[in-house]
Amino acid sequence: MVVYTDKESLTPFILSKKNNSKKIGFVPTMGALHKGHLSLVKTALDQNDVVVVSIYVNPTQFDNLKDLENYPRIPVKDQQFLEQLSGDIVLYVPDNKDIYGRAVDSMNFRFDGLEHQMEGAHRDGHFDGVGTILTLLFEIVQPDMAYFGEKDFQQLQIVRKLVEKNSIPVQIIGCPIVRENNGLAMSSRNKRLSKKEFKEAAFIYETLSEVRSKFSSTSINKLKLLVKERFLHHDYLKLEYFEIANESTLVPAIRKRKDNKYRAFIAVHCGEVRLIDNVALP
Ligand code: PAJ
Repeated sequence: MVVYTDKESLTPFILSKKNNSKKIGFVPTMGALHKGHLSLVKTALDQNDVVVVSIYVNPTQFDNLKDLENYPRIPVKDQQFLEQLSGDIVLYVPDNKDIYGRAVDSMNFRFDGLEHQMEGAHRDGHFDGVGTILTLLFEIVQPDMAYFGEKDFQQLQIVRKLVEKNSIPVQIIGCPIVRENNGLAMSSRNKRLSKKEFKEAAFIYETLSEVRSKFSSTSINKLKLLVKERFLHHDYLKLEYFEIANESTLVPAIRKRKDNKYRAFIAVHCGEVRLIDNVALP
């Protein structure tokens, strides 16, 4: 697998592939790769000639310095993990200077209100940081198709908006959430959970599954109360937010309306680790 650590050397490679009419797939990540990331790379390999995987822990999307410092970084393992796949994969592992030059700053974005809900309301500047890094990475990698997980469903919708509003010529593909055997959504942050916490965190998806099964017969208000109740006395998990929101606008719903599609979104703290998850509702 070829590894590039700077855009000066990646760009000629990309251009030569493009000149030979090769389709470029792109999977941006922050590393500490798991099977969720792998599923994105596999889908990208199926649909493109070359797949660029980037690993870069982007400082501008962290609102919490401790979270940025503690974010797992295991580049050698990540490379080995990707090497189990066959196909034309290129790894791009830039540093801050390669991406940002001297000033590690965010640009400001408007995403038609998508940025004000849930993660946007709880993580100051997060989506400006995500918009900034993806604008820069799309310029460098120039992909035909880029792959994002529904695990970060709000991010996926925001990336779609970013591309549409700025006429970036890339097709965005959403990929299903990959879960652990106990139902917990796979996440790089899971690596920071103790064994006990990992076991207890299965409660998050259990709760979402209960919401999904009761959705048709129960009001949104009742479901919200039910979830609050369930977490109130939990020894390991602290609820940050639970919302049922319109899938395209991400505006929290009060009443169900026919012809609208809804999703349940949740953020929970387990010790020092912040976990998010979501499910589509019937
Ligand atoms: P990261 O958290 O590393 O995730 C990279 C991609 O993998 C995202 O599109 C995310 O939604 C997807 N992903 C993570 N866990 C998944 C799971 N369990 N199932 C399916 N897909 C999953 O998201 C980011 O990095 C960053 O914000 C980034 C887009 C790279 C910008 O810095």
